[in-house]
Amino acid sequence: MQMFRHVENVSEWQDLPLRGGVRVGSILAVGVDLPRLLSWGPARTVAARHTRRWAQVFDHLQSSRPGPWSGWTSSYDGRPLPRRQMQDWLRATLERIKALEPRRVLEVGCGAGRIARALAPDVESYLGLDISPAALDALRAGLRADGVRAGHVDLRLGDHEALARLPGSSFDCIVVNSVVQYLPNLSALQTLLDSCGRLLAPFGAVFLGDIRDLRLQEAFAGSLAAYQQPQPLSPGALWIDISRRLIEEPELLVAPGYFAAAAPWAGAVDLQLKPGRTDNELFRFRYDVVLRHGPTPSRPPALVFRGDNAAQALVRALGRAEAPFIRGESFTDLRISPVIEPMSVKRSPRRGGRRPGGFHPARLFSLGARHGYRTVVSPAASHRVDRLDVLFQREASLPGCSGAPAHGVVARGALTQEAMTNMPLAAAALPRLRTAVGERLGGGRPILLVDALRLEKLQRDAPDWLAHVD
Ligand SMILES: C[S@@+](CC[C@H](N)C(=O)[O-])C[C@H]1O[C@@H](n2cnc3c(N)ncnc32)[C@H](O)[C@@H]1O
Repeated sequence: MQMFRHVENVSEWQDLPLRGGVRVGSILAVGVDLPRLLSWGPARTVAARHTRRWAQVFDHLQSSRPGPWSGWTSSYDGRPLPRRQMQDWLRATLERIKALEPRRVLEVGCGAGRIARALAPDVESYLGLDISPAALDALRAGLRADGVRAGHVDLRLGDHEALARLPGSSFDCIVVNSVVQYLPNLSALQTLLDSCGRLLAPFGAVFLGDIRDLRLQEAFAGSLAAYQQPQPLSPGALWIDISRRLIEEPELLVAPGYFAAAAPWAGAVDLQLKPGRTDNELFRFRYDVVLRHGPTPSRPPALVFRGDNAAQALVRALGRAEAPFIRGESFTDLRISPVIEPMSVKRSPRRGGRRPGGFHPARLFSLGARHGYRTVVSPAASHRVDRLDVLFQREASLPGCSGAPAHGVVARGALTQEAMTNMPLAAAALPRLRTAVGERLGGGRPILLVDALRLEKLQRDAPDWLAHVD
């Protein structure tokens, strides 16, 4: 089998957003320049349709399968996620929101109201916004069934852009839970964050929950590929499977480093992993963000323990309650490490049979609770995807808040779409591109459209992988 660094005629297709390609047996893997694809003629119209399409999806879900957990199915086998796991997820989410002491609440993407129905009875005012009329109807019916007085609850049809029409400083708590993934792109997310900054009253907070982690996208895709294929795949076949999943992803994923730099109005930015022993996709591959309006709170210095070798010392310091703030940095995250390792292009050597160091997030939460500390567990600021950071704090003055915007190292200018999010709009434009490539190529040969950067990385790091696929 022959492999070509560049498929001769691909580079000549100046009007198509392509960059090189490789021929692998019967497959032609063609690199797509994703930023160019977004400004390619047929792709431009897709942006306007994106939000409408999600509104139809949620309308359909609500009318075809009403119920509190409709649509919450496993990406692995399509079955509903276990009820107990979903209840753990909701409990953890509600605890985080309630810790913000919400009074005047705005919820963007309130849906059928899992959160609204838990908050509305106890708050001064609640405004829920959603793009799905059916979800809003279901929420109205739910609130009626709960006997919630209607006067302080306002439900409106609208998307994230409708926030621009609300008066400034009107809310002390804004909830955006499990919604960011349906935004079309980075610029929509930035619009949402800018609006939150304007709408928050001083010292208010925004809870952005259930954010899909861009850095873990490949590991997630790899775990799906491994689960869904009856036979173990060769590295090349696995690469092809993962590449297809990545480029066809219709939802928005965001790197944790984005939030601190993108919300300059936030004095404190907390990125948080969920507590609990549950290791499903919601707990593994997603995180929550709390952004607090106002100045950065000052903190006494923390005792710091760094890396897996310091794990036991950290546990001992907690046991002796040695300091009001104890920080752990860059520990292996045992919830995520089992699914990361088999996926990396450059594999790190396995430590044969040894029990891995590090912590499962659940262990850190229970250690904190046992020794009287509040616990915040975050994706590591070191940007290692298999690592976590933890802050234990004795004081309850800022509930669940680490104060320091640990991920604030990214300059605003570095917040490019490619670095911070994937490009769901590109996925929608792929069928047209695939047709155009097929027409030029003729012959009905299978074509794999791949992110050009990913193809270039493979050619650089592991060119032999594709040679073994057929
Ligand atoms: C997965 S549900 C989450 C509902 C609720 N926040 C919760 O956690 O239970 C996502 C909701 O976001 C809504 N949504 C999606 N994109 C939106 C947008 N751009 N603006 C407002 N709502 C949106 C959908 O209609 C859907 O009801």
